[in-house]
Amino acid sequence: MKIAFFSTQSYDREYFTRYNTGHELLFLEAPLNEHTITLATGCKAVCAFVNDTLNAAVIKGLAEAGIRLIAMRSAGYNNVDLAAAAAHQISVVRVPAYSPHAVAEHAVALICTLNRKTHKAYNRVREGNFSLEKLTGFDLYGKTIGVIGTGKIGEVFCEIMKGFGCRVLAFDLVANRTLEAKGIEYLPLVKLLPQCDIISLHCPLTEQTRHIINADTIVMMKTGVMLINTSRGALIDTGAVIQALKTGQIRYLGIDVYEQEEKLFFHNLSEEIIQDDDIMRLMSFPNVLVTSHQGFFTDEALTQIAQTTLQNINDFEAGKQLVNKVV
Ligand code: NAI
Repeated sequence: MKIAFFSTQSYDREYFTRYNTGHELLFLEAPLNEHTITLATGCKAVCAFVNDTLNAAVIKGLAEAGIRLIAMRSAGYNNVDLAAAAAHQISVVRVPAYSPHAVAEHAVALICTLNRKTHKAYNRVREGNFSLEKLTGFDLYGKTIGVIGTGKIGEVFCEIMKGFGCRVLAFDLVANRTLEAKGIEYLPLVKLLPQCDIISLHCPLTEQTRHIINADTIVMMKTGVMLINTSRGALIDTGAVIQALKTGQIRYLGIDVYEQEEKLFFHNLSEEIIQDDDIMRLMSFPNVLVTSHQGFFTDEALTQIAQTTLQNINDFEAGKQLVNKVV
């Protein structure tokens, strides 16, 4: 089958070529949007990623270009208009689980870096500055961690934080029995927020969770809280978080995702004038750490993403049941 891969980087080309089982792979650097649909002409499937646009207009255009399958090479699919895909009889598949450890471990990396300031220490020492001034951190042992969303990634994250000797509280629509058996306590959000030293977001972006972190929920948090987001940028109201960083209500922020990331992340903009004032303001805080959606970025996860996506495509071509079907 001929498949158009949008928004590809060198690592996409490397891993998909390595595990390809005879498909014709058309690797495109362009993102998928209203202006790039025609690049998929002649293909039966498109393979897209988290910041591609798959709204109703794009899906209509893809259907007209002969596309029958949208293969997301991601777990999240909040950028896909599922109703439009169903209306045009386009199947949508995804990679439901690819190393939840990769993302959970990255969330922990953000916590440890913000806390112990290893990024600053690295630069200082290289310049011959061996001073410890302003590098004070805190013990994670004994601290209370709030986890919002305890699915595959949230579960691994809870277990790692238990390993540090933290008290772990959780909020989810459905309690995870395995975690409860390990002593993780489920609480309503309003009861969880005031108790936590660190809050980490691991729920998907839905209408219910959009801006779950906003001015109203931030005031419920402990003064000096650390907030970590490796899920989706729009879980956070960026303006409200900037205000809370200015007052010190939020003392540390670690984000691997950002509300307006599609114009920024995965690109080298080091010679550009960045127009997004919110990200520039965030990066000006000494207690904010931004990574550009690299939580998934391990060898194990890239292997799993390529293998599962290609298997989804093989199954579609063979007319088999699509186990990872979203629509
Ligand atoms: P999952 O589907 O296994 O777990 C999500 C959990 O969130 C479920 O337990 C669900 O019940 C819960 N949830 C749903 N709505 C909720 C609500 N309104 N309030 C509280 N909890 C709610 O998903 P998984 O694999 O753990 O991934 C979580 C998210 O991580 C994905 O949706 C995606 O946005 C993000 N992600 C980020 C990556 C990165 O590279 N930074 C890579 C992969 C995923």
